[in-house]
Amino acid sequence: VTTAPLPHQRWTFDGPFGTYDRAAAQRGFQVYKEVCANCHSLKLGYYRDLKGIGLSDGQIAAIAASVSVPTIGEDGQPAERPGLPSDHFHSPFPNENAARAAMNGALPPDLSLIEKAREGGADYIYALLNGYSEPPAGMKLGDGMNYNKYFPGNQIAMVQPLQNGQVTYADGTPATQEQMARDVATFLTYMASPEMEDRKRIGVKIVLFLVFMTGITYAVKRKVWADVH
Ligand code: HEM
Repeated sequence: VTTAPLPHQRWTFDGPFGTYDRAAAQRGFQVYKEVCANCHSLKLGYYRDLKGIGLSDGQIAAIAASVSVPTIGEDGQPAERPGLPSDHFHSPFPNENAARAAMNGALPPDLSLIEKAREGGADYIYALLNGYSEPPAGMKLGDGMNYNKYFPGNQIAMVQPLQNGQVTYADGTPATQEQMARDVATFLTYMASPEMEDRKRIGVKIVLFLVFMTGITYAVKRKVWADVH
């Protein structure tokens, strides 16, 4: 059994002028929060990063405040306080051992940089989430393992996380499995590269500047050498 070739998807963030589809990224955050966050951390992300997908300060403060964060109380004892926009995303497990203990020994990887860490990026995330099926005849799966045609080795410990109608989108978009996979792949790409749009904008300006400077230096050269025959 070999891993299936990865189909390429069209993404709004492709190419030198690409930008994130804010509505898709917001839906993707909803999918992450309601489904993936039960097992996967996103620990390099801050709640304030949600500003970049178009959430308001008030929405971000409310989302952050819905988790409690460990702190030291006034009496010097461990206590809890509501989260703030400056806090990292809340992780489902305190550490790797706790995660493995809950997951039959498997470790759900942190998703902060997963889009960069896996070949294919968003295409891979999308394919993986849609790649579950019955194993081919004759293939024996390990205990608690699931068949996925895009996972290297085809046996993955993660059960199929998305099914049609898994979430109810606030904007009324039908929550098909493909739609949720596409949206969460957009969101995870944003989390891995929140600076992407700025980077591309600066790149375009620099290329224009270099074209302009080429023209100037050529004109200056003509002028300086004009009398030399
Ligand atoms: C692995 C994404 C939901 C448990 C993974 C991987 C990704 C991923 C990208 C890495 C695959 C690789 O190593 O190439 C997601 C997304 C989710 C989601 C986007 C939500 C839509 C869940 C849930 C659980 C879970 C709800 C637990 C019930 C795991 C485990 C692994 C894993 C245990 C490790 C699998 C292995 O190494 O065999 N997930 N996941 N995931 N996920 Fe999820």
